[in-house]
Amino acid sequence: MTIKTRFTELMGIEHPIVQGGMMWVGRAELAAAVSNAGGLGLLTALTQPTPDELRREIDRCRAMTDKPFGVNLTILPSVNPPPYAQYRRAIIESGMTIVETAGHKPQEHVEDFKSHGIKVLHKCTSVRHALSAERMGVDVISIDGFECAGHPGEDDIPGLVLIPAAADKVKIPMIASGGFGDGRGLVAALALGAEGINMGTRFCATVEAPIHQKAKQLLLDNDERGTRLIFRNLHNTARVGANSVSQKVVEILSHPESKFEDVAHLVRGAQGRMLLETGDLDAGLIWAGQVQGLIHDIPTVAALIARIISDASDIIAERLTSMAA
Ligand SMILES: Cc1cc2nc3c(=O)[nH]c(=O)nc-3n(C[C@H](O)[C@H](O)[C@H](O)COP(=O)(O)O)c2cc1C
Repeated sequence: MTIKTRFTELMGIEHPIVQGGMMWVGRAELAAAVSNAGGLGLLTALTQPTPDELRREIDRCRAMTDKPFGVNLTILPSVNPPPYAQYRRAIIESGMTIVETAGHKPQEHVEDFKSHGIKVLHKCTSVRHALSAERMGVDVISIDGFECAGHPGEDDIPGLVLIPAAADKVKIPMIASGGFGDGRGLVAALALGAEGINMGTRFCATVEAPIHQKAKQLLLDNDERGTRLIFRNLHNTARVGANSVSQKVVEILSHPESKFEDVAHLVRGAQGRMLLETGDLDAGLIWAGQVQGLIHDIPTVAALIARIISDASDIIAERLTSMAA
């Protein structure tokens, strides 16, 4: 059985499974593996230190797959923001046709991408932001529930409510994100009104994910309780994996007078990168979601996607059909 939705048709892909943008992880090896397996792989623009290096990474990915793939551009508030407009130019001039935007105030980026005929998936964490992105003209909403790795927003609404609440209002195709890792999740997402799923953490525990084996093993060893919410008091909540660093950050920020500067030395992106590259699990933060509780192996991307589709098809054709009879 294949699972065809408006999303697979629009993107020209075989399976309704997206590999979300992931800092330090969303490189050509992983994105190409996902696209070759029939899903939609995404490079993460800001993982490349300069816009020119992003152009080269796009070329490298093109050499690894002839299937559709995209680029994630994440716009986050920052003291020294990266040159977003130059990264956007690199994406457009490289002839990309699919982009995932995420973060704050995407309008100028969305307008520029759309004026160049690029299909835009916008990832957001609330129904109101989904509706404003739809009005802005994006093609697909990726709705990210509270379970997710990364930035779940400040409303704390899990996917079980957020996905159907968004599906009730959003008219364009919508995919569900946060907490997905297997065929059961895919069927649930489709039942709740989504037309596909987006996964981050699950794709980190695959053979092709360009991170250290010990980091992959941590995702297997942690269960569904193995995350910490940090930056809550700064109204920039982030869900990361449980380790000594995230624990320390939670403790420091639990003091009423605490500020970002008190933890800045612990949360630098370069330290998270070191963790992923060296396998030193106390080097920094590791982004990971509650779906760690559903990760029990490190398969190839192709094996993972084939298993999700086959399990989802069995659930639809057998378990659910027999119940409905
Ligand atoms: C290691 C890692 C890095 C991530 N970096 C980004 C990022 O740079 N930009 C972004 O939009 N989302 C980022 N995310 C979030 C994912 O794209 C995706 O929305 C999220 O992982 C979905 O939840 P899940 O982990 O439960 O599948 C990251 C997730 C992980 C696991």
